[in-house]
Amino acid sequence: MSGLFITLEGGDGSGKSTQSALLASWLEEQGRTIVLSREPGGTELGVELREIILHRRGYIAPRAEALLYAADRAHNIATKIRPALERGDVVLQDRYLDSSVAYQGAGRVLDPTEVRNLSLWAAEDLLPDLTILLDLDETVGRSRLDQSRTQYDRLEAEKQDFHARVRASYLELADAEPERFLVLPAADSIESIASAIRARVATLL
Ligand code: TYD
Repeated sequence: MSGLFITLEGGDGSGKSTQSALLASWLEEQGRTIVLSREPGGTELGVELREIILHRRGYIAPRAEALLYAADRAHNIATKIRPALERGDVVLQDRYLDSSVAYQGAGRVLDPTEVRNLSLWAAEDLLPDLTILLDLDETVGRSRLDQSRTQYDRLEAEKQDFHARVRASYLELADAEPERFLVLPAADSIESIASAIRARVATLL
């Protein structure tokens, strides 16, 4: 059985972890072995990097931030994701290189092509088989977050126009690679999103 690499993308508060958990249990029912991962923080080293990237106080230069995410990605792909795919597992990962293009490229206003190339270098050109984009108006995402957080991390704390650029960038990425992306409105019901995801994933099994 060949491995499958599925990533979930979307703004903060778009429901990625809920959908990832639902998809994981459905895939298990289909007899597949699942590896759940996330970036930043999918590995032990990644957990340390995550702490620095998201919770360190003070300014981090945009290029340093991009490199920290790329370092997390390089280690995660080399030590966890590639071995899982080689075993034939299904990898469900919360965020991947499209997050870097959207947040560091459009959000921090670095060159999106350079950010993408940096990520591809870090990951030795591994692209997902499917990327599920849960598209959400950034003001709705913010109010969802407000209900679940007492404190924001460095990225969540960015202003609305940052998150609006992130959203627009995600939609552009999806337009550019329609065969890799499945775009779903994150405001739909949890069950209708889950069933649209299952229908698409079923075609890849
Ligand atoms: P995430 O773990 O999804 O945060 P949460 O648990 O709050 O949903 O992601 C952490 C933050 O890191 C999120 O705001 C998006 C950001 N991010 C980037 O800016 N670039 C990247 O390459 C990745 C993977 C995440």
